Amino acid sequence: MAAYDYETHEYDVVVVGAGGAGLRATLGMAEQGLRTACVTKVFPTRSHTVAAQGGIAASLSNMGPDHWQWHMYDTVKGSDWLGDTDAMEYLAREAPKAVYELEHYGVPFSRTEEGTIYQRPFGGHTTEFGEGPPVQRTCAAADRTGHAILHTLYGQSLKNNAEFYIEYFAIDLIMSEDGQCQGVLAWKLDDGTLHLFAAKMVVLATGGYGRAYFSATSAHTCTGDGGGMVARAGLPLQDMEFVQFHPTGIYGAGCLITEGARGEGGYLTNSEGERFMERYAPTYKDLASRDVVSRCMTMEIREGRGVGADGDHIHLHLNHLPPETLALRLPGISESARIFAGVDVTKEPIPVLPTVHYNMGGIPTNYWGEVLAPTKKDPDNVAPGLMAVGEAGCASVHGANRLGSNSLIDLVVFGRAAAIRAGQVVDPSTAVPTPNKRSIEAALSRFDGLRYAAGQVTTAELRLEMQKTMQADAAVFRTDKTLAEGVKKMEGVAGKMDDLAVTDRSLIWNSDLMETLELANLMPNAVATIVAAEARKESRGAHAHEDYPDRDDENWRKHSLIWFKGNEASLGFRGVHLNPLTSHNDGGIDPKKIAPKARVY
Ligand code: FUM
Repeated sequence: MAAYDYETHEYDVVVVGAGGAGLRATLGMAEQGLRTACVTKVFPTRSHTVAAQGGIAASLSNMGPDHWQWHMYDTVKGSDWLGDTDAMEYLAREAPKAVYELEHYGVPFSRTEEGTIYQRPFGGHTTEFGEGPPVQRTCAAADRTGHAILHTLYGQSLKNNAEFYIEYFAIDLIMSEDGQCQGVLAWKLDDGTLHLFAAKMVVLATGGYGRAYFSATSAHTCTGDGGGMVARAGLPLQDMEFVQFHPTGIYGAGCLITEGARGEGGYLTNSEGERFMERYAPTYKDLASRDVVSRCMTMEIREGRGVGADGDHIHLHLNHLPPETLALRLPGISESARIFAGVDVTKEPIPVLPTVHYNMGGIPTNYWGEVLAPTKKDPDNVAPGLMAVGEAGCASVHGANRLGSNSLIDLVVFGRAAAIRAGQVVDPSTAVPTPNKRSIEAALSRFDGLRYAAGQVTTAELRLEMQKTMQADAAVFRTDKTLAEGVKKMEGVAGKMDDLAVTDRSLIWNSDLMETLELANLMPNAVATIVAAEARKESRGAHAHEDYPDRDDENWRKHSLIWFKGNEASLGFRGVHLNPLTSHNDGGIDPKKIAPKARVY
């Protein structure tokens, strides 16, 4: 192995990732006076949260009656009864507080005539515990909500003296022999130096792994880096079989057209011009939950009612909406439709297709963001020194399917919760632990191995093979046959990691090496997804299994866990938390309201 020097930095807390969750955690830590560093591979305001369009869910009641318990009920139903009840209560209860904090930090939300925060309808968000009409719960800054939040949180973090290490790629977690996280080793992309960030707490806020698939709304940076590091540290990934397809990715390009488009009155049609969602979801129609709409679109196409020369997509109509509404509420997607589909939304429908959008699974945590290292005796055992928030984590509030606009609120509620918890468990007066030399050596050796990889397969070739396999075999609809074939193919694909060819050996702006490190992170995420999907013999949320079309609560209302030893994946389970945080007598939700039942919209 080549000799590597590294510079050591000491902090109370190191946050890896500067999207919505990473920045909210960074800000919350810094506000309390904890010495906080945020290490990020892209400039903070270029993190993938910048692409979040439609909005952030919170029961503010600005546009009509709403209640946190209705939000909680919708989240439980949206999750298809796989979410952890305590975490879902925490999300729904804390959401209004978290949004008002954003407003006070300076997020430029769109406004109502009265000057309050504008809210729009989104799929699966209802009133009266699913018995009433759709609710306007999604707080929006036009259709650039994520952009607005990121810029505000970055500015506030700087104001509170958080320190940013920008364009540093996190290589691996540094773990003590007894399983405590002690920091992270990172590579500075612009000068090739290595940096050891020693800390009392590491927070992974690295986002999802959408790029394990061929067509995704996710940025190319969404490579599951946190999941990869955690898997290599011997900790499990949870509920990885649940991958969300957003109904309206632009056909061909994959870019997102916000669900807010349907919230503002847009609707889908098939080749017969029929508004087919009325048939499948008579009450909420185009505003049914995402997994439901994506499946309905796929069925229309499969039954020969797709649009276009190949009958392989669907139309989204906005052309009946007043041009002023489009300009005021949906300017961003009007531009995307023009650039990526050549469509003037005031005149023509947008060609759309369900596209990979979000990972419900991730690094298991409790609702404080603390990473879990489940044991037989204690499924909720906490891994010391390590937290995960945002799409990288799995609290689990989204269970088998996330509701639109519950992602941005997840980022800020749990980023904030992690900071609150760190304030309780991190003592700024103690010394930063000395990181384990053996773990540092192991991280350097893996880095060196990939830098000098001299096999037969390029990173781009292997990545494409992985993406095509996942797209074909872990799709909207799954069968025993496709999943079994997919597991076999992915075992072969993952095996080729040992035969990689990296041609650039330098350390400065070496995108070949960086993409290889990213592929090494994507791979365990992808393998875990297909292995867990093959194991789950039921249909639930985003996991639509054609051989087992029904949900099976008796046998499968449980979280899947996947551990890795090298390329070998092993499967386990954890029980779903069934108890809310607050009893009904103390003002909590009536448990009868959230008891499992058929999920119809
Ligand atoms: O459709 C959208 O604007 C996406 C929102 C989300 O994924 O929460």
